[in-house]
Amino acid sequence: SANQMWGGRFSAGPDAIMEAINASISFDQRMAAQDIAGSRAHAAMLAATGILSDSDAQAIRKGLLTVLSEIEGGTFQFSASLEDIHMNVEARLKEVIGEPAGRLHTGRSRNDQVATDFKLWVRDQIDAAIQGLEALIRALLAQAEAGADWVMPGFTHLQTAQPVTWGHHMMAYVEMFGRDLSRMRDARARMNECPLGAAALAGTSFPIDREMTASALGFDRPAANSLDAVSDRDFALEFLGAASICAMHLSRFAEELVIWSSAQFRFVTLSDRFSTGSSIMPQKKNPDAAELIRAKIGRIFGANVALMMVMKGLPLAYSKDMQEDKEQVFDAADNLMLALAAMEGMVRDMTANRANLAAAAGSGFSTATDLADWLVRVAGIPFRDAHHVTGTLVGMAEARGCDLPDLTLEDMQSVHADITADVFTVLGVENSVASRTSYGGTAPDQVRAQIARWKEVLG
Ligand code: ARG
Repeated sequence: SANQMWGGRFSAGPDAIMEAINASISFDQRMAAQDIAGSRAHAAMLAATGILSDSDAQAIRKGLLTVLSEIEGGTFQFSASLEDIHMNVEARLKEVIGEPAGRLHTGRSRNDQVATDFKLWVRDQIDAAIQGLEALIRALLAQAEAGADWVMPGFTHLQTAQPVTWGHHMMAYVEMFGRDLSRMRDARARMNECPLGAAALAGTSFPIDREMTASALGFDRPAANSLDAVSDRDFALEFLGAASICAMHLSRFAEELVIWSSAQFRFVTLSDRFSTGSSIMPQKKNPDAAELIRAKIGRIFGANVALMMVMKGLPLAYSKDMQEDKEQVFDAADNLMLALAAMEGMVRDMTANRANLAAAAGSGFSTATDLADWLVRVAGIPFRDAHHVTGTLVGMAEARGCDLPDLTLEDMQSVHADITADVFTVLGVENSVASRTSYGGTAPDQVRAQIARWKEVLG
């Protein structure tokens, strides 16, 4: 039989395959709460503007709450023949309250309805991402504070470069996740315009009050152009873009945790709570959570690309293609929240192995730059020459299988006569990091200043 919502001009119901490709209820039921909030705001506005009687609006608003409690209680029967969440809710409302239910859809279309619901849903996810990021940043701050002056190797090309502090490395991620936080906030501020009242595409002849519904639903204002309001999905793309960048940051950090927790590095010990074992190798403790976080970027960025492709060729205004927006965003949001929570847990629980970090900090000629700088500062040698002298000394130490501080003063002087015993003060890693006092540098005082600033930002 023909559809009860739009079947007036139809004499036959849809083929089973038509229903299968068309229905979205299996996934868009996740927007039930948003759909009902939007409809309740719309009904209140219809009454306030005199389009609907107060008693009809009241019946609708009350009935919608009944439907919501049925959905939340798990007793609601979703039907694929009713296509989507919007028509499932409305059909049930009709069963619950009867005739007034048919008046709810006055001055509204599913096009502005779905745009509103989806925006509300994405906005909630942005708020959840902001919370998750703040929690992760707090966990990183605690790690940074505990080891603000612990030395470790800093790397370029994953080769030992210069000693840095543990706190400095943690705070590098705080900066990254801090930018992710501000990207989420920016996206939220930009998207917060209400599509409701755009109707199908052209607006409506009913004297609706779009300011009223916008403010009831927590939007800053109504969207200014009805064609754009029903066509726009860039709010979802912006969320996916910010989520992709955030997932990329999570993935880089996860990669470091995988490396750092290996037997060869032993920079950190992950807690049992965030590790797994092997079914055959009894000694194993695997960083599975980090590996899965590292992999999540794939599906999150995939969602971003997929929705970009869905949208790129659509003429204005609504096309059914846009129904394909939701599963991508749902999946990306679920996995972003999970990755943020898992990373926060791992960071909170992990132990930095201070002694191993310190031992590694001094290996690999990590203070060679300090030696070159000393030659410039104390012996007045041009930096390029100092670089060459230091390189020669590194070659000497490498040939002997020792580190730079193990060379004797005579060894040093055989390469450059102006070197004095004072040079040994800069070859120690503690002195090295303490000397990097430039703004944003690795000196413990700089790191503590970064921590203090972030604590103030988070309040
Ligand atoms: N389920 C649809 C979606 O998710 C709702 C909008 C339907 N609008 C329409 N004109 N068929 O996009």
